[in-house]
Amino acid sequence: MMFSDRISVMKETILVAGGAGYIGSHTVRALCEEGINVVVVDNLSEGHRETVGGALLVEADINDAAALDAVFAEHTINAVIHFSAYAYVGESVSNPQKYYHNNVGATLTLLAAMLRHNVKQLVFSSSCATYGNPVRIPIDESHPQNPVNPYGTTKFMVERILADYHSAYGLNYIALRYFNAAGAHPDGSIGESHRIETHLIPLALKTITGERAYIEVFGTDYDTPDGTCIRDYIHVCDLASAHCAALRALADGAESRCINLGTGQGASVREVIHTCEEVCGKKVPVVFSARRPGDPPVLVAANNLAKTVLKWSPRWTTIREIIASAWNWEQHRNF
Ligand SMILES: NC(=O)c1ccc[n+]([C@@H]2O[C@H](COP(=O)([O-])OP(=O)(O)OC[C@H]3O[C@@H](n4cnc5c(N)ncnc54)[C@H](O)[C@@H]3O)[C@@H](O)[C@H]2O)c1
Repeated sequence: MMFSDRISVMKETILVAGGAGYIGSHTVRALCEEGINVVVVDNLSEGHRETVGGALLVEADINDAAALDAVFAEHTINAVIHFSAYAYVGESVSNPQKYYHNNVGATLTLLAAMLRHNVKQLVFSSSCATYGNPVRIPIDESHPQNPVNPYGTTKFMVERILADYHSAYGLNYIALRYFNAAGAHPDGSIGESHRIETHLIPLALKTITGERAYIEVFGTDYDTPDGTCIRDYIHVCDLASAHCAALRALADGAESRCINLGTGQGASVREVIHTCEEVCGKKVPVVFSARRPGDPPVLVAANNLAKTVLKWSPRWTTIREIIASAWNWEQHRNF
């Protein structure tokens, strides 16, 4: 029996914390399309009410134990997907308190509520930022973890907490270490809409829509074929399908562990900008600047574990189709 069949028969529900955000909303959409009941808990600090579609939205902070108790009491929750975190690397350096408080402290509140209500399955949003500066490429899950900023450290700390909670309390989890999330839903109704945009593709596209005058490229003297940094861009719908696969794996008794989510292919900053120009038929104005501290030259995932454990592989395999979906969203977005 498929996971979704089991869910609908048992009338169980998935709680999606941070489900009104970028990756969360695409995952909520994917779950709803599988016929799964979803309750989103989001404080809308970054997310958007419009994104959750037919799912129930509870506007609450995951640090609010009483609000969580009410949700767990009202619904038969059998698993939690936890996206809720702050995710601006630069801000985490200037204001680490905000990051440790929300990304680690509030996660403890959520985990405590899960344990109180005997919910023992969790899919957690971790990050390739837990690896820090890579010592080998592609990066597999056994690569050393030395995060180089507070944001990456918060994700690393939660991974350690989950391992301890698994041993002590039987909390089963899959922590998904995303590489660079990109793109938008192909129907153009949801996509990337961050309060402060720091990601390359939306920044480049915003120069084309006229929202920004230019894009700054940090460093052209890296040891890469064209001198700019290389990243592994994974389509947000592929991330969403991986979360559904992780829930199925947990329901089938998968081992608690951390799993990379990337395509296994890298694209350089210059390549991404050039492809944006091709897709949109317009020039992207670029200002070249010095390297930024803490930017590794190359971050590319080894994704074999995701393929074997989750029985998942990315469907969006070219940077061009990923950018085309982001451009479709960028032109029609209304939030
Ligand atoms: N976007 C990426 O490339 C990327 C890469 C690696 C990891 N991640 C992680 O994936 C997750 C989702 O990222 P995103 O890009 O969708 O970010 P996002 O900001 O769009 O989504 C996060 C959501 O969580 C909500 N939230 C934050 N704190 C909350 C709290 N205390 N209580 C309730 N809701 C809260 C926000 O309102 C927002 O809707 C984050 O944990 C992020 O660290 C993202």
